[in-house]
This record gives sequence, structure tokens and C-alpha cells, in this order.
Amino acid sequence: MIRVRTGIDGVPVYGAGRRGSVDDPANQGLAQLSSNESPFPPLPSVSDAIARAAAGVNRYPDIDGTVLRARLAGAHGVEEDQIVLGCGSIEVCHQAATISAEPGTEVLYAWPTFPEYTAITALAGARARRVPLTGWRHDVVAMAKAVTEKTRVVFVCNPNNPTGTAVGGAELAYLLDAIPSWCLVVVDEAYAEFADAPEFSSGLELLGTYDNLLVLRTFSKAYGLAGLRVGYGITSVELASLLRLAKIPFSVGSVALAAAVASIDAGSELAARTATIKAERDRVANHLAGLGWNLPSSQANFLWIPASEARADALERRCAERKVLVRKYPDGMRITIGTEEENDRLLGALGSPDDLPPTNVAATATSFAGGAGPS
Ligand SMILES: Cc1ncc(COP(=O)(O)O)c(C=O)c1O
Repeated sequence: MIRVRTGIDGVPVYGAGRRGSVDDPANQGLAQLSSNESPFPPLPSVSDAIARAAAGVNRYPDIDGTVLRARLAGAHGVEEDQIVLGCGSIEVCHQAATISAEPGTEVLYAWPTFPEYTAITALAGARARRVPLTGWRHDVVAMAKAVTEKTRVVFVCNPNNPTGTAVGGAELAYLLDAIPSWCLVVVDEAYAEFADAPEFSSGLELLGTYDNLLVLRTFSKAYGLAGLRVGYGITSVELASLLRLAKIPFSVGSVALAAAVASIDAGSELAARTATIKAERDRVANHLAGLGWNLPSSQANFLWIPASEARADALERRCAERKVLVRKYPDGMRITIGTEEENDRLLGALGSPDDLPPTNVAATATSFAGGAGPS
């Protein structure tokens, strides 16, 4: 056996949402509401760009992603040098920890949240400090109090995965004011396109004020390119140049780059799809509230149903009987918003909370276990 780094065997394995292989006939009609993906196939213009780029994959991609970075800079009104790319925004999360965390330091985040922060922290050899959500929302006061001399990175998932709850502008500014400027604050906005003001406020609005702020976005969710792997961060020029040191060379392939640019070109068509998902989210949430479910307000493309493990088990079984895949957690269940037909099937499967075993989950989340994680 080889000698391994201390702590490597404690790194949690990424727990992707369950999925059914499309090649398996048994999965015909399966509603995959387990991984927060878009239910829509690529737009024709994006498929065309993918096909054109595929014809040139004997060549390496542009290592700097120059065209995409220029387009993103234009779209966000920032300089190209403020944009960093990654193989999904998850790579930019890794870059953030790689440049700042190390053994003897701490990485701070809420819990439950995107569990990859736990693996990232462990890989950097740092210690995780988790601050429980309060009422399924980030508790920015408790988070600010948890910052110490050792804190190197603070992750804020906004809207939060898996609860869908958002951090507002005043809360975000409070947190950034409370965190020392030598500590990197990563505001992970993978689901920002589904959020509405004033519940949600983007970190992008604070970029000019805080040089230690990194805002993450992705083409995996609202842009429907999860399978291609392209995400990005926007930050100060100085921080961006440091993050690029930790980037895996050529990690964003030429097909992904071309598809992302074509998706920016198709911005209005994609915005219409996002509006459809938001309307469906609100329809499903209202329907469930009418049935007696008590859900936190979601600003993402998924809903969080607080439930004891026994209830979540029962719910997952009901969904499976109707060929609906969902994501179960120790403290609840996360359901991604799909097409109207899929959502109707989900609603039929969930039924009323009165038919289930009694719940005992409080609106704080200290019992949430690590390891298995959502995508
Ligand atoms: C909060 C959050 N951040 C980042 C990611 C990773 O997204 P990407 O596909 O851009 O790597 C996910 C994926 O589910 C997520 O939920």
C-alpha cells in the first residue's frame, strides 16, 4: 500500500443525486428530480455550437477561455481579468481553498449546505467549522461570531442548497463587514438565476467594496449545461490571478467553452426557461402549502421538505412508485423542479403530510450528517 497524506481517507466521497441510466428501458419516463438539473434539452443554437466545436476536439482548448471570459465580463460589467473559469463552479470552489486554506486553518460554512465544501476543506488539510442554519436560513450573526484568526475561507451558498433559502443584501453586507479582509469569502450563487429580489441579493453588487469577495456562477443549472462542466468566479483582479494559479490547465474543454458562449447568445430564450421553472416552483410550493406541508421559501430550482428520516423514507418510496427520483437527507427531502408533467406526478406522489409517520425535525439542522451530498 502506498503512503497517503494524513487525513485523505477522511475526505467524504461526493454523493451525487440518484439517477437512472437513459439507456435502460426501465427508466423510460423517469422524472429525475434528484440533482437540481434543468429538465430541458440544449437549445438548437447551443446544440449547433456543440457540434461545430466537437469537430475540432483534436486540438486543445484555449487555455485562458478568452472569448468566454470576454463575453462574461461584458455581461457582468467587469474586467476580463476579474473572471476565473473552472470545470464547473465546483473547480473554482477548489481553487479558493487551494490558494488559502492549509493545515492549522479553518473553513467556515453553514449546515446543511452544499456538502462539497466539506471535501474541499478536508483536501486542503483544514478544519471545517459548521454553523447550523436557523429556520433553514443562514444565521449570519452566528457565522460572523464563528470567524477566528484561523479562518481562511467562508463559503456562503446563496440560495442555499439543499434548503433553497436566500441571504438578503443587508445580511450579506453584515457578514462581509464582520469578516476580516484577509479572509476569502466565497458566495456560491449556482442558483442565482432562479432567485428574486428582495429575498435574494447577489454578491456581484458588493464586488467593488470587498476585495476578498469571490462570487461563483455556473452554466450547469439555469443554463442547462451540467454535463459539459463550465462555471466561473468573479472577483478582484488580484484574487483572480491567484485563483488561476490553482486552476487545472485546460480543465474547461473547447465544447464546453463554445456551448457557454452560445448560451450567452441565447440569453433571452434561456431566461424564458428560467421563468418557466420559477413559475412551476411557485405553483408546486403553493400546492404543497395548501396540502399542509410547511416548506421554507425557495429561491432556487428546488424545494426543501423538512422531514424526519422515517418520513423522508416514506416519501422517497411514494415517489419511486410513480417513477420520480428525489433526494433524501437525514433531515428532509429535496425535490428539483422539473417539467409541468413531472411536477404533477411529484405532487400526486407526495400527497398530504397527514398520511405520513409523525415528524420530529426542528427548524435547526444540527442532526444533518456529513458525507453524502447533493449535486
Ligand atoms: C451550491 C452549489 N455550488 C456548486 C455546484 C457545482 O456546480 P457545477 O456544476 O458548476 O460544478 C452545485 C451543484 O450542485 C451546487 O449545488
